[in-house]
Amino acid sequence: MYGPVRDGTSVPRSKVTVPQIRARKRVGPAGGPAAGPAIAMITAYDYTMARLLDEGGADLLLVGDSLGMVVQGHKTTLPVTVDEICYHGRAVARGAERAHVVGDMPFMSFQTSPIAALENAGKMMKEGAFESVKLEGGVEFAEHVRRIVCAGIPVMGHVGLLPQSVHAMGGFKVQGKREDDAERVLRDAKAMEEAGAYAIVLEAIPPDLASQITQSVGVPTIGIGAGAQCDGQVLVCYDLLGMYRSLSPKFAKKFAEVGDTIVAATRDYVREVSEGTFPAAAHTFKPNGFRVGEEPELDPLADAHVH
Ligand code: KIV
Repeated sequence: MYGPVRDGTSVPRSKVTVPQIRARKRVGPAGGPAAGPAIAMITAYDYTMARLLDEGGADLLLVGDSLGMVVQGHKTTLPVTVDEICYHGRAVARGAERAHVVGDMPFMSFQTSPIAALENAGKMMKEGAFESVKLEGGVEFAEHVRRIVCAGIPVMGHVGLLPQSVHAMGGFKVQGKREDDAERVLRDAKAMEEAGAYAIVLEAIPPDLASQITQSVGVPTIGIGAGAQCDGQVLVCYDLLGMYRSLSPKFAKKFAEVGDTIVAATRDYVREVSEGTFPAAAHTFKPNGFRVGEEPELDPLADAHVH
């Protein structure tokens, strides 16, 4: 299913499936660690980025409602709609040859009732080209998850820091620091597993709590700001690439400084345009060799390939 090296050439191109992801559980109640590398999930919002992340060996691409912040520029994820998630999902699906594509259920698309949750999950599968959906919450949404799973739609859970509850939580704050709160997060994760979730995101919780949850549930945990003892990790692509300048959480390691590269390239472009050194001859088509109104000498192959 996966190659030993994630260099973009040794990763087989067959689609990653939900049963394969479940089988990547490394440490759990049944013992471990199992064979196979930890799961690598990254968010993606468009075709070009999805192609690059897929080529780089990402196992899952998440069209996260984080797009409200990193693509649309809002302060929270709350304004994102199901139609917007579906629009980005279709683009990402076209670029994801191997990676499994997960769609985030936006705020108020699943909270109101199990039926609303099922209908919106169905819409996301039909119109967003998703292969599974993810939703935030624990015990109180177990029935909603059960209804979606019963319809044959795989669900990924998400516990700990819930960005859709940012106002209730008083900000984007680490969860599960007090004993009673840690028990709540553990209960939420167990409820997601019991309801049929095939994997669970653990966001912004202490690493020992993440480790305890990972050992207590039989499905893979995918951490973000939850330490190394999870079955996988997830990052927002613009954080990983050093492109999102508005917020920089402690857990978001920048694996590149693409933001700086973009700014430098843009400065070079602006300078060359203003100096008149771009476009040079190499970026210019062959001249016609006649003036409009004069008889042209036609070359049937000229301009055959514009790109
Ligand atoms: O919306 C998102 O990008 C997410 C990840 C950070 C897990 O939920």
